[in-house]
Amino acid sequence: MNKPILIGAAVETELEFLINKLENVVKRKIDDYDFWEGMINSFPVVVYKTEVGTINATMSTVIAIKEYNPMFIVNEGTAGSHINTLLPGDIVIGKEIIAIDSYKSNNRKLGEGSNPFEWSIAGFSNEKAIECDKELLNFALKIKKFYHDGKVCVARIGSGNVFNKEADRIKNLYEKVNTVCEEMEGIGVYKVCNRLNVPVISFRVISNNEILGMRYDVSYGKKSQIFSYEFVKRYIEDK
Ligand code: 5AD
Repeated sequence: MNKPILIGAAVETELEFLINKLENVVKRKIDDYDFWEGMINSFPVVVYKTEVGTINATMSTVIAIKEYNPMFIVNEGTAGSHINTLLPGDIVIGKEIIAIDSYKSNNRKLGEGSNPFEWSIAGFSNEKAIECDKELLNFALKIKKFYHDGKVCVARIGSGNVFNKEADRIKNLYEKVNTVCEEMEGIGVYKVCNRLNVPVISFRVISNNEILGMRYDVSYGKKSQIFSYEFVKRYIEDK
């Protein structure tokens, strides 16, 4: 029996298209997280709900790896753009992910206020960006031509328990750490996979561009699933 492929996303709207693609689905709850076990072209695939935020993503991914010993993990879902050339519908393949909610500030006395633009980012144990698996990245580059709903780029994703809507702050993040978009789970998933030696890749669809005033639209969550399904289906065919 093959090791299963795992696909994780935060919310139901980022999962339902994939769950519908599974043959012989069995839903399970493990430690209160949701898993859907099934098959794609007779190959075992498990879809799981990371839930929102880095702590949930970390916990659910540890549980998923211990339970299923996967061949690899795909993390997918929506993300907010950090640049004005990445628009809703575009896909970002997370070549690497860096924590954007880990800061150290300068010293300021009482009454001297606060300036987040001065904070140094990713100052603790997450200071380095974590990379995706190279073989999975190469395969993603091969299949990206089958996505027709936007551009597909390979770049660094920012991830953390934060939803930035201030255009200046977003621009500052891009300039400081070169993140082209942000989401709230990927750093947890990449960190766990990195530690436990499980190949991982992330596919995020842009669902909002706060710099251009394009607000979060959950319906884009279907498009990262379309991309992920194409990736997994063709990966299985290729094996
Ligand atoms: N900032 C942070 N998270 C975002 N998400 C979509 N857009 C953004 C954004 N601009 C994703 C997160 C989380 C949910 C809020 O949607 O990954 O799951």
